[in-house]
Amino acid sequence: MGQSLALGIKRKKTFRLEIIHIHLQFRNSMPQVVAAQKILACPAGSNLRHVLLNQEVPVHNGRSRLINCRGLGSCGTCAVKVEEDVSPPTWRDLARRSLPPHTPTRDLRLACQTSVVGDIRVTKYDGFWGQGTQPVWSAERATEGE
Ligand code: FES
Repeated sequence: MGQSLALGIKRKKTFRLEIIHIHLQFRNSMPQVVAAQKILACPAGSNLRHVLLNQEVPVHNGRSRLINCRGLGSCGTCAVKVEEDVSPPTWRDLARRSLPPHTPTRDLRLACQTSVVGDIRVTKYDGFWGQGTQPVWSAERATEGE
């Protein structure tokens, strides 16, 4: 009797650990992007610019919505601040942000050159290239008109 009770407890613990493991696997494979007061789930490795645009979060300011390189990494207008877990900067990202109006020391990333690895929070700043200091939207702040 005591032996079967101990076996039952052990199985229950093992089952619980399996559930936690599956939950963590699912969570890591579908990171959450928090931007403009929206929570966007996407597969790990997704391109950040695509994730934002697909959910109608404006990654480009003003006229740069029409005049941009469409994700080639050359215009620099998709610059955003990203907190937490993303891919390391690509050479295109580093090269473009080393040129004005961007500066290499600023903590921005080009959304089109960034892959989502884990849960992240995103902020977009003002200016044609997103190079300003005033947030246009952030994790807690919606876009204008919402
Ligand atoms: S869209 Fe031009 S650099 Fe990202």
